[in-house]
Amino acid sequence: MKIIDGRSLASEIKSEIKHEVKKFINGGGKVPHLAAVLVGENPASQAYVRNKIKSCEKVGFESTLIRKSENISEDELLAIIDKLNNNDDVDGFIVQLPLPKHIDESKVTLSIDPKKDVDGFHPVNIGRMALGLPCYLPATPNGILTILERYNIKTSGKNIVVIGRSNIVGTPISILLSRNTKLGNGTVTLTHSRTADLVSEVQRADIIIAAIGIPEFISADMVKEGAVIIDVGINRVEDENAPKGYKLVGDVDFDEVAAKASYITPVPGGVGQMTVTSLLQNTLKAARKEVYG
Ligand code: GUN
Repeated sequence: MKIIDGRSLASEIKSEIKHEVKKFINGGGKVPHLAAVLVGENPASQAYVRNKIKSCEKVGFESTLIRKSENISEDELLAIIDKLNNNDDVDGFIVQLPLPKHIDESKVTLSIDPKKDVDGFHPVNIGRMALGLPCYLPATPNGILTILERYNIKTSGKNIVVIGRSNIVGTPISILLSRNTKLGNGTVTLTHSRTADLVSEVQRADIIIAAIGIPEFISADMVKEGAVIIDVGINRVEDENAPKGYKLVGDVDFDEVAAKASYITPVPGGVGQMTVTSLLQNTLKAARKEVYG
């Protein structure tokens, strides 16, 4: 069994991006610039955005953080997005999700210019992804593909079971892994809350992608010997002994499942680390105008 080291892989990729940024600037390019909009005080969102901004510094990007209170109106937020769409100095930007209940997330996503949508959430980018056209890939699916590529894990002809059909993980990764590409050609089953017999679907998987958001849901009896386990879950569970009063666990019962797996991603230190590097890769693509010219 091999534990996939997301931290060290992310750090390797950040070094590669830093090198690419230097080359781009030396060749007359501009410093890539990522902006992030953070609404409200959600602790997890604050931590994610802090990490995104810090990572920009590490690779030599410029970054801008726009923080707004929970009470911002939808119109005010749409006006900020409009300004970012039209600011030539900003190559790409993200609006951190989730947003407060009174703001329509899909309206916000649709208002972002696809050329600057480095999260890859806009339907234009999702559509291009589905058709295999140049696009910004969403961060978590791209992070998963990078793990599979760098650890030389073959997907062609494999039974891949994705658990969870969210717009930002389950649905896009199931499309990417089934396409006729080097990191695709899997036989993908996308399972969800209405799947008739989830356990038997998961039991026949060569590769399991767990993205349901239920702490330690996948137990050893659900996993075939030698399966590859990609755990996308990041769940906070109470832990009196932890300094912050909680600890992070994935959607997989790591201790039980690791013994049967050929490869497994830990939480923390697995897929989560790769999402920021994907965002940086997309921002560099935006600065180089690689996707939309
Ligand atoms: N919330 C959880 N993951 C993400 C992400 O990748 N991008 C944004 N904008 N919000 C998120």
